[in-house]
Amino acid sequence: MQPPKAVGWSPNHSALRILDQRLLPGVELERDLVSLEDTMDAIRTLAVRGAPAIGVAAAIGLAVALRRDSGGDGTKARHLLTEYAPRLAATRPTAVNLTWAVHRMQQAVEAVRNDDLLAALAREAEAIRSEDVRMCEQIGEHGLAIIPDGARVLTHCNAGALATAGIGTALAPLYAAHARGRALTVYADETRPLRQGARLTAWELVRAGINVSVLPDGAAASLIGQGLVDLVIVGADRITANGDVANKIGTYGVALAAHAHGVPFYVAAPWSTIDVATPTGAHIVIEHRQADELGELPALVPAWNPAFDVTPRALVRGYLTDRGFVDPPFLGDRESV
Ligand code: MRU
Repeated sequence: MQPPKAVGWSPNHSALRILDQRLLPGVELERDLVSLEDTMDAIRTLAVRGAPAIGVAAAIGLAVALRRDSGGDGTKARHLLTEYAPRLAATRPTAVNLTWAVHRMQQAVEAVRNDDLLAALAREAEAIRSEDVRMCEQIGEHGLAIIPDGARVLTHCNAGALATAGIGTALAPLYAAHARGRALTVYADETRPLRQGARLTAWELVRAGINVSVLPDGAAASLIGQGLVDLVIVGADRITANGDVANKIGTYGVALAAHAHGVPFYVAAPWSTIDVATPTGAHIVIEHRQADELGELPALVPAWNPAFDVTPRALVRGYLTDRGFVDPPFLGDRESV
């Protein structure tokens, strides 16, 4: 079975098409979005989520909204772009792919005549989407080296097909290994509070015929400590120049447990997630989300609900990218690193 398509174009390219992840695993519903507000709302409410998927959604959403709202007038579209781009980029602060994609869209039309602007935006959005598909495939191929037959793998959150335009980042080597007939045992952390591991990772792996069990986040250290995990692999929302990694809240704890027990902890991400302009994890803006995500609390009890944490470079055994395994520091222009 083909992996699910989380984000892309509607058939005639008139809309951003997403699989609404708020409803999974119970309901598989695709939505076609055309307004900037609908794209922003989908990103903010995690209807579309995962760093690479957010970037692709922003690019396509921007191209579609500008075509609609400008009525095909390139001069008007250029004017609207200056207003829409910063609003879209601000919807979620931690995943660098969002600002990266919006910035690419802006750059793509800098030297373009107004007559060609809308076509150039559509081309750039499609380039961002198709490059993401390719980068996922390449991460999968390079990652085969760390997934032997019989591997027992722990992952946190969802860094699979649902988090990208392709087959995912952390899950890409698992799909590649499964396709080669390697036996796998995957453990998916539940990933409180929004349960991306239990709802999304488990859903897409079962659908692909990959053996997966879900565990509560609090059980991960115990699972590792009992020698039941050969390696941990997670995705990333931002990797800083020194190699610190922002990812879903709870990732840091898993990395600490893996380190304490000598279990390798790998981070898989495309180049678009490496942020050479941010020196260390201390400089990353961490998104904090609303208290109601934690379920019912006693009256007047405040919540601390960060969506992400930062795993220091020292806990990471390897960085798996579309260009293979790489080592920090990551310097200079992202394209030329
Ligand atoms: O809040 P989310 O669901 O968007 O968080 C997603 C993650 O933390 C993923 O692990 C990360 O974006 C990598 S996705 C390839």
